[in-house]
Amino acid sequence: MSETLSLFTTRVHRAVFPKAGALNDDIVAAALSFAEDDEAGRRWSEENGYPGYTSYGSFTDLLSRAPCFAALKKLLDVEAARFAKTVHFDLGGGRLRLDNIWLNILEPGGFHAGHIHPHSVISGTYYAQVPDGASALKFEDPRLPMMMAAPPRDDAAPADLRNFVYLAPTAGTALMWESWLRHEVVRNDADDLRISVSFNYRWE
Ligand SMILES: [Fe+2]
Repeated sequence: MSETLSLFTTRVHRAVFPKAGALNDDIVAAALSFAEDDEAGRRWSEENGYPGYTSYGSFTDLLSRAPCFAALKKLLDVEAARFAKTVHFDLGGGRLRLDNIWLNILEPGGFHAGHIHPHSVISGTYYAQVPDGASALKFEDPRLPMMMAAPPRDDAAPADLRNFVYLAPTAGTALMWESWLRHEVVRNDADDLRISVSFNYRWE
């Protein structure tokens, strides 16, 4: 008898909200209006090479700026709790708290290089507007730096054995992962804006 065990797996949580049309419309409208009014955010985006607009460097109070963000938080809190259960987090009497949340408007041709989210336990993004051809999210096998002599995977490799996995979300989808998982937004090949809301949960 022989068997192959699957160990040290990496989970990515996907939640699709089919009735999110009105929520998405509100988020898109708010995003476009903030991008116009938020001069500090526009400056931050430019100085930090963000191709479009992000409120990451300017707003710390996004949740109270429009009701759609408070509504989104409710959905995300439920999904974060589900994900925490899936990955068997033992929070030891503590809890997961949404730590920061920010808007992203990615222009055509824009991308965001690979990164992780330090000081957080769960990170993710909710997609409000995803035009055809818009950027997928690319996840990287966290063991990649240790694979010096490993052969590449063949074309038939399932997603859980690949070194890179691309997920192309639709509007109304939230993706969540553990914050140490490196990810990257590949080039936006759509000729329209891709609008999303990213967030971190902290353990406290
Ligand atoms: Fe990120």
